[in-house]
Amino acid sequence: MKSASFLARSLRLVTAILIVTSATAYADEARPLYLDSSQPIEKRVEDLLSRLTLEEKNSLLHGDSKFTTAAIPRLNIPRRWMSDGPHGVREDVGPDTWDPADRTDDFATCMPCGIALAATWNPDVALAEGVAVGEEALARGKHIMLGPAVNIMRTPLCGRNFEYFGEDPFLASRIAVGYIRGEQSQNVASCIKHFAANNQEADRNAINVEVDERALREIYLPAFKAAVQEAGVWAVMGAYNKLRGDYCCHNDYLLNKILKDEYGFQGIVISDWGGAHDTRAAALGGLDLEMGTEKPYDEFFLAGSFREALQKGELPMSLLDDKARRNLRVMIATHVLDGRQPGSLNTKEHQAASRRVAEEAMVLLKNKRDALPLDLFRIQSLAVIGDNATRLQAHGGQSSEIKAFYEIAPLEGILRRVGGRVNVSYSVGYGKDVGDDAIARAIQAAATADAVLFIGGLNHDRNFDTEGFDRRNMKLPYGQDELIQRVVEVNPRTIVVLVGGSPMEMGQWIDRVPAVLMAWYGGMESGNALARVLFGDVNPSGKLPCTFPKRLADSPAHALGAYPGTNGVVRYEEGLLVGYRWFDTKDIEPLFPFGHGLSYTRFNYSNLKLVQGASTNGPVLTAEFDVANTGTRAGGEVAQLYVHDTQSSLPRPARELKGFQKVFLKPGEKQTVSIPLDLSAFAFYDPDKHGWVAEAGEFAILIGSSSRDVRLSGTFALAQTTCGK
Ligand code: BGC
Repeated sequence: MKSASFLARSLRLVTAILIVTSATAYADEARPLYLDSSQPIEKRVEDLLSRLTLEEKNSLLHGDSKFTTAAIPRLNIPRRWMSDGPHGVREDVGPDTWDPADRTDDFATCMPCGIALAATWNPDVALAEGVAVGEEALARGKHIMLGPAVNIMRTPLCGRNFEYFGEDPFLASRIAVGYIRGEQSQNVASCIKHFAANNQEADRNAINVEVDERALREIYLPAFKAAVQEAGVWAVMGAYNKLRGDYCCHNDYLLNKILKDEYGFQGIVISDWGGAHDTRAAALGGLDLEMGTEKPYDEFFLAGSFREALQKGELPMSLLDDKARRNLRVMIATHVLDGRQPGSLNTKEHQAASRRVAEEAMVLLKNKRDALPLDLFRIQSLAVIGDNATRLQAHGGQSSEIKAFYEIAPLEGILRRVGGRVNVSYSVGYGKDVGDDAIARAIQAAATADAVLFIGGLNHDRNFDTEGFDRRNMKLPYGQDELIQRVVEVNPRTIVVLVGGSPMEMGQWIDRVPAVLMAWYGGMESGNALARVLFGDVNPSGKLPCTFPKRLADSPAHALGAYPGTNGVVRYEEGLLVGYRWFDTKDIEPLFPFGHGLSYTRFNYSNLKLVQGASTNGPVLTAEFDVANTGTRAGGEVAQLYVHDTQSSLPRPARELKGFQKVFLKPGEKQTVSIPLDLSAFAFYDPDKHGWVAEAGEFAILIGSSSRDVRLSGTFALAQTTCGK
């Protein structure tokens, strides 16, 4: 008995000790290092990595639905959610199809399209847009936003030009950096796309791009480099196309050598959806997260077959660790494990940000005899004509489409603004199924109105501004050219508003109409923004982020027959001479040049001083000059600085944008603008030296209101040749 009760007592003691011990162990583990937000990120990453099994690490590297990766509940790792941007948070689809998820909680603020954002030439506005999209991503539970999209406009026909930031690498870089800084300030990772040379939709899944090294470095990569090195972007999406024979989603040169080794990118490379094609190539070629293919998720190239190759020792475990580490790093850096802020949706601030981008983006292409703004006290009747006056655009264009909380179409914005003071008639005039009687009605309405607002352009239907297809030509569709001519014949006070995301031909009527306004796709506030510009509440201050050629054949890829490629290969024969670099170097008159945009006021430029510094890291030169508003309305002007290399050992384009600043001035106000230039402003990429060479010699500094409207110039001599990375 005695021994039995002793045994029982001893057992109770042992059990108690065991409970205490395991409670202590549990207390230690209650807050493992990787969950301690006071610890440095890399320590947390290593701690978490050390706890993962091979299967768990592997699960981080591929999707488990259209836009997610699997959770690891054992370690508090949540399911990671991605969503398309870049114009807002896309509606939910799937989980395993592209069909809408039919939810009622997946609306978002729709921002103006990417090219509109670039047309603001205002990185602060891009930052504000990034903040707003980031806040909405938080509220919608998204961790990685698939944007911004920065592929350079090589041809006016690319179906996705509307999502991108135009033809110039410097402008695209500045806008991308602003947007990413804003979005990532909300602990949401931006995913810049599509890396790289994804400049056409024709044959996009297979086309092999052959581009020379200088053009790659000077034209197609700078926005990505700036995103990595200046904005610290956390994710990069590989492109569908091939570059020099290898698919971009596992292109060793692009992803390992340039992005990771040279640029020092520490984040994750995500495949475009279905953009990976082979296990070994994906594993070795720099891909870190494979998304989107239509097959079972364990059959993804970075899933089962990758695990097998690791287990058999055919691929080193270090590859798996590196990819897992990158995924964990982004997860921890964006506070996914610490609990993120709740975010917000469709706030007054988001609506205001959307309207501000739309307003600042509008480019006044032409304005003879001050046809704009319209004076409500001088007109009694207004004929609004055009399919785009009533068409809603937010939910179009494929992956960048948004299920907007609301969308004010142009006609609605105009009606709200005129508030019953003017008799507004509306006729569609043109469109897919529009017949002669509708055309006649539009002309009749135009003939009897005091002024006409023709609201035309493109839309997101197939073969216009949409993903997956390029445009067939640069013309306005549905007989708009003829209609505009007939309308202006009966009413010379015809203002043309163009909605669209890429250049359009206007040769048949441009000389006959007094005013043309490029409105882009203005997001959910587009109608309000348009009305405010048309009636003068807002003075337009947008500038073209791309050249508008007179005809398609004038633009480089088409002039050289280097689009869309033959036998699966497209050769970028124009090299560096993309956009205005081509038009200026070859002296071809465009319809409207890069950087062009008028105002309701006038700006005067004076007093250029070129102040030299001697720094190798900071500015070597600062251009200082005055901009004055000499008109009668407040307005914004984008002062642009172009560099022309007068003597160079390698050929260079006639001029290159290297700085700009947007200033807002009241009537009579003057401001000194100061644009610092470091060595990179003078450098070209030398493929033999594998670096950027700023060559000693003379450079012309051209300051202007567009690439072809130079108001001030000076020269500067660089004393020493330098070569850098
Ligand atoms: C597009 C990407 C997009 C992805 C996911 C692809 O087709 O090229 O830009 O992010 O789909 O929707």
